[in-house]
Amino acid sequence: MNIKAFIFDMDGVITDTVPYHYESWKRLSEEENIPFTKEDNEQLLGRSRLDSLRIFLKGKKITPHREAEMLEKKNQYFHELIKNLNEQDLIPGIKDLLLAIRKLGLKLSVASSSKNAKFIISKLGIAHLFDCIIDGNLVTKAKPEPELFLKTADCIAVSPCNCIVVEDSAAGVEAALRANMKVIGIGPEERVGKATFRYNNIKEINLTEILHANQN
Ligand code: BG6
Ligand code: MG
Repeated sequence: MNIKAFIFDMDGVITDTVPYHYESWKRLSEEENIPFTKEDNEQLLGRSRLDSLRIFLKGKKITPHREAEMLEKKNQYFHELIKNLNEQDLIPGIKDLLLAIRKLGLKLSVASSSKNAKFIISKLGIAHLFDCIIDGNLVTKAKPEPELFLKTADCIAVSPCNCIVVEDSAAGVEAALRANMKVIGIGPEERVGKATFRYNNIKEINLTEILHANQN
């Protein structure tokens, strides 16, 4: 297989917004009297805002109106925490990796469940590095469904089998594999062990190893 494009998840891969999502849910959990731990937060990685709320509610049924109200609050708390986000908040090694991929002439894209992805990428000052940004506003079926990645492949006009995804969530790894793409998992074996390659962090990614392993 021949890699022609790299597709990056954003939260936890390009910038570490995971603690900000956690803090926002935690604040909501205290107001709503719903227990919420760091372990609960792990279940939300990669999931859309609405799917996250449903997992957060642990089966408790609420009206669509209350759902919308809670989602708006959570997003407002999140925005308070990311208001000063800038280039300093890029995950170590990510900018060099993106530049190295561009230098190789490969396509580069973001595929994020977040509806805030375009806003965040522009705050980080790296929007110009990507051929395409597909976010949670553009899909109806969130990760672990493959739609987000298939839309991205379409946008950059590269066949899914020639794409490799960089992901930190179990839902994202599953979505990429279901899209018939290769995956680089970032994080522990228990979370991203199903990925084609796995590294503990972005700095560890070895481009030569990946590209050679895939050029038959
Ligand atoms: C994903 C995050 O990238 O985006 C999730 O991993 C988050 O934690 C989801 O819930 C939706 O984000 P947003 O910004 O649309 O609330
Ligand atoms: Mg992520």
